[in-house]
Amino acid sequence: MALLEIKNLCARVGEKEILKNFSLTINEGEIHAIMGPNGSGKSTLSNVIAGHPAYEVTSGEIYFKGLNVLEMTPDERANSGIFLAFQYPTELPGVGTALFLKTAMNAKLKFLGKPELDAVTFMKKLKVRANALGITDEMLKRPVNVGFSGGEKKKMETFQMAFLEPDFCILDEMDSGLDIDALRVVSTGVNVMREPKRSFLIITHYQRLLDYIEPDYVHIMVDGRIVESGDKNLALKLEEKGYESYK
Ligand SMILES: Nc1ncnc2c1ncn2[C@@H]1O[C@H](COP(=O)(O)OP(=O)(O)OP(=O)(O)O)[C@@H](O)[C@H]1O
Ligand SMILES: [Mg+2]
Repeated sequence: MALLEIKNLCARVGEKEILKNFSLTINEGEIHAIMGPNGSGKSTLSNVIAGHPAYEVTSGEIYFKGLNVLEMTPDERANSGIFLAFQYPTELPGVGTALFLKTAMNAKLKFLGKPELDAVTFMKKLKVRANALGITDEMLKRPVNVGFSGGEKKKMETFQMAFLEPDFCILDEMDSGLDIDALRVVSTGVNVMREPKRSFLIITHYQRLLDYIEPDYVHIMVDGRIVESGDKNLALKLEEKGYESYK
């Protein structure tokens, strides 16, 4: 069953058209990878799905679990199960990580009509997820991402995702800036989240990540649209040949 359906999506920032008739269907349980040259619109796509206000959708449709995403606020999108791990995670000075996650989790549970987590259950879950990704207690106490190294921020994003258990996870270059051990830790974090109903959209420049997280489909995005789709072998071909033939 389709979890996310994007049909003929066009989007721009200011006068600049970035997404040009972009279409993609992601079924429940699938992992899709998108690769593409710098500036082809991969982060724009992520931001449009998450509801970033800087991007104007000029035509096309997005459905998530059959709901019209373009009519939903960014909060409603997140609460209904869409999670975006940013290419450049933002720092939130003054906002403690634990409080941030508690607020996000409780907003989601409220949206779903479920009771909030009690403090003990919350802390237990927080620690388990944090430990699995090498996030220390000291890091948990600091404001969200403030003063974290590039790789630590990426780990933090993965941790937030693992904690919030979204149904659809977009990982925008989560491998960039990670050392080899961190890449393994984070990839394992994603792999343990694999479930028959949960899907992933993984944006990456490097085939290596796909050795750790095996995608069902690989798409090549050039100039705002998908120009070729295939299986993981497409990423290997790309590694060898580059983007020259798509230009
Ligand atoms: N907020 C913005 N304001 C102005 N231009 C933007 C904005 N967001 C994106 N763009 C432009 O849209 C194009 C696509 O950018 P985007 O970040 O989506 O590319 P990308 O495929 O993610 O690239 P990279 O691989 O370098 O991360 C670029 O030319 C970029 O300059
Ligand atoms: Mg990008």
